[in-house]
Amino acid sequence: MFATAQPISKINSIPNDLFAAIRKLKKDLNAVIIAHYYQDSDIQDIADYIGDSLGLSQKAANTNADVIVFAGVHFMAETAKILNPDKIVLLPDLNAGCSLADSCPPKEFKAFKEAHPNHIVVSYINCSAEIKAMSDIICTSSNAVKIVNQIPQDQPIIFAPDRNLGRYVAEQTNRDLVLWQGSCIVHETFSEKKIIQLQIQHPEAEIIAHPECEPAVLNHAKYIGSTTALLKYSQNSNSPAFIVATEPGIIHQMEKAAPDKKFIPAPAMNNCACNECPHMRLNTLEKLYLAMKNKTPEITLPEDIRIAALKPIQRMLEMS
Ligand code: 13P
Ligand code: SF4
Repeated sequence: MFATAQPISKINSIPNDLFAAIRKLKKDLNAVIIAHYYQDSDIQDIADYIGDSLGLSQKAANTNADVIVFAGVHFMAETAKILNPDKIVLLPDLNAGCSLADSCPPKEFKAFKEAHPNHIVVSYINCSAEIKAMSDIICTSSNAVKIVNQIPQDQPIIFAPDRNLGRYVAEQTNRDLVLWQGSCIVHETFSEKKIIQLQIQHPEAEIIAHPECEPAVLNHAKYIGSTTALLKYSQNSNSPAFIVATEPGIIHQMEKAAPDKKFIPAPAMNNCACNECPHMRLNTLEKLYLAMKNKTPEITLPEDIRIAALKPIQRMLEMS
């Protein structure tokens, strides 16, 4: 007798207690689940580690797990794979990309680089492995100023791909940076007008913003920083309320850390939920479970690109 093949619906059946099933798979696979703050709250709640892009790469660089389940977007999981070629790196939804990373295609960037000889390239971690492989140093929003400040004053610098973070870093370091004109669809969407209206309705609230926001929004911010920095600031500030100009997924941790404070998501220009990252939100708890159960989708990349992309990431980790 031949065993009958299981129907797909059976293979992909979702258990009632997803949390328990994921915890069991975590043990069986010797897996670690690392998640960005922009993930759905239930994913954040099951994660072993939640952080900003720097924290996530540091965690990925120092894990003993055999399997890294990356609840974030493609460039983040790819960075984990670059650092861990021998480990299995799973991304719950392989389509979870990033508009900012997509705004910097390798062919065009190569030509841009060639048009600026003698420049070194500092690239924001929100870029593809191919762009990392063409870069000298990687940075994140939490260490970009620190890293640029360590580069000799007379060394010209290309900063890619985010023009808003680049402009912010140029101001903070008092440097001329040649900026690649990329941006993030989420951080571009915040409405200055609506933020001002919210501030009038909530005069007690402080505006806090991610440096990927447009200058018109950053100009109103009491504090600017990476997601982890915004979270820490909201805990330490005496203010009872905050208007949060970044993806609202971070508010889950802000509310957990300071339940008595009020967190108001900065609104988008249109009456839409465009302040939620459509890429990050492709991951769900169900997909995370299925990725662990089926050990797919897995991140892979060509070894020559991986080796070239590893160098500037290691430089970042040393300089952070
Ligand atoms: P950080 O969490 O490093 O601040 O980055 C925000 C972001 O846009 C990630 O895609
Ligand atoms: Fe990319 Fe913006 Fe989404 Fe971050 S929030 S992953 S930069 S599209």
